[in-house]
Amino acid sequence: MTRLATTLDPRGPEHLAHREAALERLAALADEHAKALAGGGPKYTERHRARGKLLARERVELLLDPDTPFLELSPLAAWGSDYPVGASMVTGIGTVEGVECVVVANDPTVRGGASNPWTLKKALRANEIALANRLPVISLVESGGADLPSQKEIFIPGGAIFRDLTRLSAAGIPTVAVVFGNSTAGGAYIPGMSDHTVMIKDRSKVFLGGPPLVKMATGEESDDESLGGADMHARTSGLADHYAVDEQDAIRQARRIVARLNHRKPYPDPGPAPEPLYDPEELLGIVPSDLRTPFDPREVVARIVDASDFDEFKPLYGTSLVTGWAALHGYPVGILANAQGVLFSEESQKAAQFIQLANQRDIPLLFLHNTTGYMVGKEYEQGGIVKHGSMMINAVSNSRVPHLSVLIGASYGAGHYGMCGRAYEPRFLFAWPSAKSAVMGPQQLAGVLSIVARQSAAAKGQPYDEEQDAGMRAFVEAQIESESLPMFLSGRIYDDGVIDPRDTRTVLGLCLSAVHNAPVEGARGGFGVFRM
Ligand code: COA
Repeated sequence: MTRLATTLDPRGPEHLAHREAALERLAALADEHAKALAGGGPKYTERHRARGKLLARERVELLLDPDTPFLELSPLAAWGSDYPVGASMVTGIGTVEGVECVVVANDPTVRGGASNPWTLKKALRANEIALANRLPVISLVESGGADLPSQKEIFIPGGAIFRDLTRLSAAGIPTVAVVFGNSTAGGAYIPGMSDHTVMIKDRSKVFLGGPPLVKMATGEESDDESLGGADMHARTSGLADHYAVDEQDAIRQARRIVARLNHRKPYPDPGPAPEPLYDPEELLGIVPSDLRTPFDPREVVARIVDASDFDEFKPLYGTSLVTGWAALHGYPVGILANAQGVLFSEESQKAAQFIQLANQRDIPLLFLHNTTGYMVGKEYEQGGIVKHGSMMINAVSNSRVPHLSVLIGASYGAGHYGMCGRAYEPRFLFAWPSAKSAVMGPQQLAGVLSIVARQSAAAKGQPYDEEQDAGMRAFVEAQIESESLPMFLSGRIYDDGVIDPRDTRTVLGLCLSAVHNAPVEGARGGFGVFRM
């Protein structure tokens, strides 16, 4: 075993200061998570309860096996937008009858559970996760359909929801819809396209058009029950496969459906694994508030991998990127972690080689981001930094083992790409509250704009207004800073959630378990042309 040593002093003033700042950020994060939990607020929650209905999260809780974890995804969706935090939907991965499933539940207390543009993005992300990891999807439906005022943003792309359900089915990934209430118009295709449906007496309403629309279209007089009630669908139309007498019964039946899916994981679970040697609490004191101060990512690795056991690859070469092998909750992983922030040619080549090795061995990769990007400057350009950065991006793009990314510090520029940022389709991507991600740092970006404006004025022979420049810089810096923060990026669903650093091992363990529902098979060749 190669146990990582630590030089961290958890009682030192720096550690304590970092920890203090981390706790403040976590408190702010908790306030935002609380908004998602509160759904539509007390008025709509009480009305919902008075109707004898369970809340979205209560439905999820009853569906899952008792005392098993739920890895909630995108809880901050819509943060910073005009729509409520959480985007009127709960999504996540949980275990039902021992089977890991993606659960998607509308929150009917938020604008009748109607889908706004962020709800759509969140639901599509959940489907993507289900497809990549071969996880069954259980939809707990109660929604007013499209959020009508924002229909232009969702009507056309929204068709992908129904397409995904049938593609999952075609790929042999089971889909189950439990209809708790309204599921009209487009929403009717959620049960329509799912492999299995459960409807509830006097509750489910599944029709293309409700009574007013039917009256307008054909003049026919009708009512909810005859158009789309559970009785009608179970006895007459055949859209309901299972008829439940109430919500609890519907959830019980959904669990029985999953128990009979015969959906088996291709790998045995690895069983209990040794904990890291060092206290995960100390993860709060590692990342400095000023991300320009470097820190050793081995201190993070030592607190998340089994037994703090880490075999480093090429430790003396390209030292600004740490690469090595470990196990996490018993699953093998290859880790790439930025050390000094900047990626040079050596780091890029080392990463490309390491990624190829992981593919040859079918080992998932974990990227721990703290990078300001690839090195600029004459020496580095002449040394081939573009060529070598491209090699790394080629390797990460064409790698076929599952990738997990965690933004722990900076994630700027093309470094975000090379380290498997969102566009490189990591199976899961989470951020710590300390993370920041943008095309470059706010000061650098404002400085570049200032230089460009200055040159443009000089080219036109105009004087340059220094006062205006200072104002512009301050404004741009503040804007870029706020757009680089994890809550903002999470709101746009550029990650799967902002996590407490102390939960990193648990979250990654749940992700690794989820990814092992699909075969883990690396690319043997099949990379793009490497320019050597
Ligand atoms: N788009 C935008 N807002 C919607 C909405 C939708 N599709 N559905 C409901 N809302 C809003 C309501 O305007 C209401 O807002 P308010 O409280 O600020 O007035 C709030 O959500 C709650 O709706 P309410 O009708 O009071 O809730 P309910 O639980 O009694 O009924 C529905 C929920 C979904 C059955 C009902 O609102 C409805 O039929 N909505 C329209 C459904 C529809 O035709 N959708 C088009 C599908 S493509």
